[in-house]
Formats: sequence, C-alpha cells, structure tokens
Amino acid sequence: MGGARERKRIDRREEWSIIARGVVTIKEEVIGVEFMDVVRQRRSIRKYRPDPVPQAKLDAVLEAARLAPSWANGQCWTFVVVTDAKVKNALARAGNEWIEHAPVIIAACADPANSGEKEGQGYYLLDIGIAMEHLILAAAEQGLGTCWIGWFDEGKAKKALGVPKDIRVVALTPVGYADEAPEPRPRKSLGEMVRRDRWA
Ligand SMILES: Cc1cc2nc3c(=O)[nH]c(=O)nc-3n(C[C@H](O)[C@H](O)[C@H](O)COP(=O)(O)O)c2cc1C
Repeated sequence: MGGARERKRIDRREEWSIIARGVVTIKEEVIGVEFMDVVRQRRSIRKYRPDPVPQAKLDAVLEAARLAPSWANGQCWTFVVVTDAKVKNALARAGNEWIEHAPVIIAACADPANSGEKEGQGYYLLDIGIAMEHLILAAAEQGLGTCWIGWFDEGKAKKALGVPKDIRVVALTPVGYADEAPEPRPRKSLGEMVRRDRWA
C-alpha cells in the first residue's frame, strides 16, 4: 500500500471531514467503497514478520472492538493483549503453534454473566464474535494481518493468561505484519446462500 492508494485514502478522509461538517451532501458510494475494500482484502494470515506493531495501530484496533454492539449493551468482553514471549509460547501450545511467531496475540475473553441466553444459545459467543470481527477488520484497515483462532485448548489458554474460573476464553488472534499474501479463499455465491421469503 502507499503512493496513489494512500493519496486516495487521504482524499476520502478529507471528503468525510467535509461531509461531517455538513458542507456537502453525503457521498454514500465513497464511504461504501472504502469499507468493501477492507472486507475484500482481509485474509487469515498465518505467517508474520517479527516487526513490532505500533501502539497507535493497536489502539485503533481495540477501539473498533470497544464500539461493537452487544446483548443489552453488556459488553461482556475483556481483551488480553499479549507480547510477552513466554505467554505467547504458552498460548501457542494450546493449539496453533505457529501463532508464537506473531509479535502480538490478542485473546478475546467473555464473562457470560454480562451477556444473555435465549433458547439454549449463549449470546456471549455472538458478542465476542461481533467485537472480534470489528477488531479484525480494523486491523486489516491498519495494514495488519490477523487470523481468528477458535481451535485451542481453553484450559491451557486460561492457565497461560491467568484468567479466572468463570471467564471464558472464546477466541485468539495473532496480530502483525503479514509475511505472506494468500489468494482469496473460495466463498459460496449469493445464489447458494440467499433464499427469498421462505427457506422452502
Ligand atoms: C470461528 C472461527 C474459528 C477459526 N479457527 C481457526 C483456527 O483455530 N486455526 C486457523 O488456522 N484458522 C482458523 N480460522 C480461520 C478460517 O480457517 C478462515 O477464516 C477460512 O479458512 C477462510 O479464510 P479467510 O479468512 O482467509 O477468508 C477460524 C475462523 C473462524 C471464523
């Protein structure tokens, strides 16, 4: 990224600030394109450069998670930002060994008591899912790679992080500069995933 693309992004920011001041009418197509660029360009990244992540970028990523919606606004989440090599190693041993090489690992933890339950579905999982997606898209916008990690031994992760008994570790993600550029992974077409009015 950089060059013409960076200039375009700055132009858009200027347009947005003009819009915010009410000088011109809202240009929905401009804002929409930038969001969809981020959505289209994000990939799960499993190889990272060792370069540290600037604090300002981490702050921007965590701010996006902070603003996520949640059940009754319960905000059941706590995010543990890990840079300590020993803690990263212990988290890597909980399931995905390669995450140890990322400069940062973020663990998304939930207190289910601050979320809801309906017909047997624990909504803390959704609360964390939404906040994590905010975080992951904000990271992509900052030029950072991530990879949602759901396959890990929660007991080992809790021990590594010192998480209390009633708190769940729902997800992990490495955060850092990508050292790979994977092709887009396949997705269903809209025709395969959308039905009109009724399932059948
Ligand atoms: C809930 C969830 C759990 C996941 N768990 C893992 C995981 O444990 N390890 C891993 O390498 N990738 C994991 N992934 C990443 C998926 O494999 C990846 O999103 C999918 O293959 C699509 O690739 P893309 O993210 O690059 O579009 C997980 C993704 C989600 C949404």
